[in-house]
Amino acid sequence: MKKNTMPVGIFDSGVGGLSVVKEFMRILPEEDLVYFGDTARVPYGTKSKSAIVRFSINNILFLLKHNVKLIIAACNTVSSVALDTLQGSFKVPVLGVINSGVQQALRLTKNEKIGVIGTKATIKSNAYTQHIKRFSADTQVYSAECALFVPLVEQGWLNNAVTKQIVNIYLTPLKKKGIDTLILGCTHYPLLKTVIKQELGNRVALVDSAKQVALQAKRVLKENNLLNKGKAKATLSCYVSDESEAFKSIARQFLGFDIGRVVKCDV
Ligand code: DGL
Repeated sequence: MKKNTMPVGIFDSGVGGLSVVKEFMRILPEEDLVYFGDTARVPYGTKSKSAIVRFSINNILFLLKHNVKLIIAACNTVSSVALDTLQGSFKVPVLGVINSGVQQALRLTKNEKIGVIGTKATIKSNAYTQHIKRFSADTQVYSAECALFVPLVEQGWLNNAVTKQIVNIYLTPLKKKGIDTLILGCTHYPLLKTVIKQELGNRVALVDSAKQVALQAKRVLKENNLLNKGKAKATLSCYVSDESEAFKSIARQFLGFDIGRVVKCDV
């Protein structure tokens, strides 16, 4: 198999990484994709670092069996606590999502007050705050764990009354701090964008790293001469580690097309 025509691998703990898939397909429509959602072990955000590293290695080994030429850890939790280990362990490039979101937030903020929401592991790791401060020491960073967002999304409750109430409870303290930019520091959260936007109004810019990561993937593929040029229609193959009734319908709702068969595999 020619290296250029090999697929790109994307993984997350569940449906969240589809937010990256969506942007990736828009920016790199000719690249075949293999998506793996670790639905048997979701959520990652409540797990220890060693467990997250182990799960991520399993996921990458699974994707490598599909001959992927590049891997995107479409998961902030993995990117926060495991990326260094992963990047040092495999020959294929492994991209994370933190840096992309930070750069975009720093471009957008005017009052230098940035909010970050994420899973417990992401917020506890302090990865976002450290990263922001490295580039802009004076920027104030206000973080909040939003533990219930991932189960809401995995359940497909993207826009109902309970979701709105929970979003209100989590985001009110950040609103009071006067943030003008909010990093959606979990790839599940863009699926709640409509409700989050309603809660925060137009004065707070929402940052989701999906587009920036897809652009970064394009750069890396280009630099390594790995772009798959000229293919008419690329494929998306989806795998999960446990049956998830909601996976297919959330994918349809979010991506706007039927993703076809979702294959259950052990990793
Ligand atoms: N979507 C992931 C993230 O970006 C993981 C969420 C979870 O499994 O807790 O953090």
